[in-house]
Amino acid sequence: MAKKGSDQTKPVPKSKSDTMEKLVSLCKRRGFILPSSQIYGGISGLWDYGPVGADLKRNIRDDWWLVNVRWRDDVVGMDTSIITHPQVWSASGHLDGFHDSMVDCKSCKQRFRADQIPGDVCPECGGELTEPRKFHLMFRTQLGAVAEDTVDVYLRPETCQSLFLNFKEIQSVARMKLPFGIAQVGKSFRNEVTPRNFIFRSREFEQMEIEYFCHPEKEDTWFDDWLAKRRQWFLDIGIKPERVRPMQHDKKELAHYAKKAFDIQYEFPFGWQEVEGIHNRGSFDLSQHAKFSGKDLSYFDEATGKKFIPSVIEASVGLDRTLLAVLCDAYDEEPERVVLRFSPLIAPVKVGVFPLVKKDNLPDIARKIELDLRRKFVTAYDEGGSIGRRYRRQDEIGTPFGVTVDYDTLENETVTLRERDSMEQRRLQIDELTGEIDRACTRQS
Ligand code: GAP
Repeated sequence: MAKKGSDQTKPVPKSKSDTMEKLVSLCKRRGFILPSSQIYGGISGLWDYGPVGADLKRNIRDDWWLVNVRWRDDVVGMDTSIITHPQVWSASGHLDGFHDSMVDCKSCKQRFRADQIPGDVCPECGGELTEPRKFHLMFRTQLGAVAEDTVDVYLRPETCQSLFLNFKEIQSVARMKLPFGIAQVGKSFRNEVTPRNFIFRSREFEQMEIEYFCHPEKEDTWFDDWLAKRRQWFLDIGIKPERVRPMQHDKKELAHYAKKAFDIQYEFPFGWQEVEGIHNRGSFDLSQHAKFSGKDLSYFDEATGKKFIPSVIEASVGLDRTLLAVLCDAYDEEPERVVLRFSPLIAPVKVGVFPLVKKDNLPDIARKIELDLRRKFVTAYDEGGSIGRRYRRQDEIGTPFGVTVDYDTLENETVTLRERDSMEQRRLQIDELTGEIDRACTRQS
């Protein structure tokens, strides 16, 4: 619920807007991301992930979970309901405060956030603007079967609130002591008035959030620690360091719950934009939920015998937005090919297997190799067209390795292993393949 820097599209240089157009078209053509309900003409701000898109998303999500939950003994995971008690949103401040003020241009009919336009005329055509109107960003629905008995409830606009609600329970059942965190990955919903920039700002999206509870005296130390670790994660999944930067919110940009905040930004083709927010939420959320629920959400420190409300450091990243950053970062054009240079760690397909020709038993051997590799990796098998074309097809979805079965294979059980980025090929024994690919595709630290 952080206040955002402007993402109204500023005029983007032609070459950069071309990159977005090409990327959107590649995503559709190769089955990464498709408009939702396409056969009915699509629906604004909603997207479907195709086979390679779903695997790319899963790999990013799994890596986040691995380093932030599985490999840490001070963070535990949860998977909570999307619909909660409606009072949650009164306590959190969303019911009163989560809206955008919008104006429409009477001439060109474009819609803008009122706080993001410099003057009092349309920034696109100079036309007259309507009075600002408030749009609530939470999706409302009804719970209950009988009309008279229904209660208004909301689809959650962020995943973190349930982590605050469960603080006391999880501390007890998981036998945690401060400092400790609770993490969750899940869908969030915001009725964005101006969804834009492909999947950057959509109406249904996935968040990966950590709420880290600590002693108030340690909040600055933990804030710095999380900011550094979270920035490093973007580099670990292959994003270029020069396209990632931390950006502090100044006082007037701070969300109502935040004492201090940094965005981690990525340089998209449409400019530097937030992919993750690191917030010091202080004791705001636990205090609010204690007040509204009447339950004690304080922490008892056995060492000092004192009770207090912990501070919370939040690291909140959008999965879809990270995936867009990964796509933008990986996209590369060479004279002969378009290539997505994903880190092997998150590449959706790890290896393509190809018989050099469609005869002399080569397809059967290639098929067998592919079926063996498939037990461990997401693979592709392709015997259609020239070998060069088959390599190009895998380059375009970012497959880091290609295995080719040729006539030497019949003689000595070796194959060639082609690397996507260098396009170099070396010969290996078939039984060396799994180890070789695994080393490149598995996170070591
Ligand atoms: N719990 C804090 C929170 O939700 P936020 O800055 O509103 O903070 C965190 O959202 C992250 O969620 C953002 O950095 C962004 O990556 C992602 N996000 C927010 N709104 C989004 C939208 N409409 N579409 C895609 N991702 C979004």
